[in-house]
Amino acid sequence: MQAEFAFTLNGQATTVRAEPAQSLLETLRDTCGLKATRLGCGMGQCGACTVLLDGEAVHACDTSIEVAAGRAVLTVEGLGNRAAPHPLQLAFVEEQALQCGFCTSGMLMRSAALLQRNPHPSEDEIRQALDGNLCRCGVHNRVVRAVRKAAKA
Ligand code: FES
Ligand code: FES
Repeated sequence: MQAEFAFTLNGQATTVRAEPAQSLLETLRDTCGLKATRLGCGMGQCGACTVLLDGEAVHACDTSIEVAAGRAVLTVEGLGNRAAPHPLQLAFVEEQALQCGFCTSGMLMRSAALLQRNPHPSEDEIRQALDGNLCRCGVHNRVVRAVRKAAKA
C-alpha cells in the first residue's frame, strides 16, 4: 500500500507517495524527475546508480524509499552544477574521464564519498573504492587520475 515518505533531496525537504518497497532509484528518476542517476544492472552490481545516503555511497537500485525516509540523499545534480562545479566534476572534464558517460554519475558519487572520508587517498585507495563501479568504455585509469587531481585541488 502506498504511503508518504519524507527525506532531504539535494538539500531540499521532499515528500513522495510510493510503495514502501519502491527503489530509491525509481523514486529519484520517475517520481522526482532527476534522471542523472542511472539504471544499469538493477541488481547492485555495477555502481551506475550510486548516490549518497547520509554521506555514505549506496546503490539506489537496491535501496528502498522506506530505507531512505528521514535521511539525506545526495545525487550528482546536488553535487555541483555548471555555475559551481564540484572539484571532482572539474577534474573529470579536465582528465576526460568519461566516454559515453553512462557510469559517470556513479563514479562521481562514489568518489565524492571517498574524498569526504579520506581527502587525500592513495592511488590504491581510489582503485579499491571504485572497484564496484563498472565502466564498459574502459576509462578507469582516467577516472583514477581525475580523483587524484580533485584530491589535490
Ligand atoms: S543499477 Fe544499481 S548497481 Fe547497477
Ligand atoms: S564512460 Fe561509458 S560506461 Fe563509463
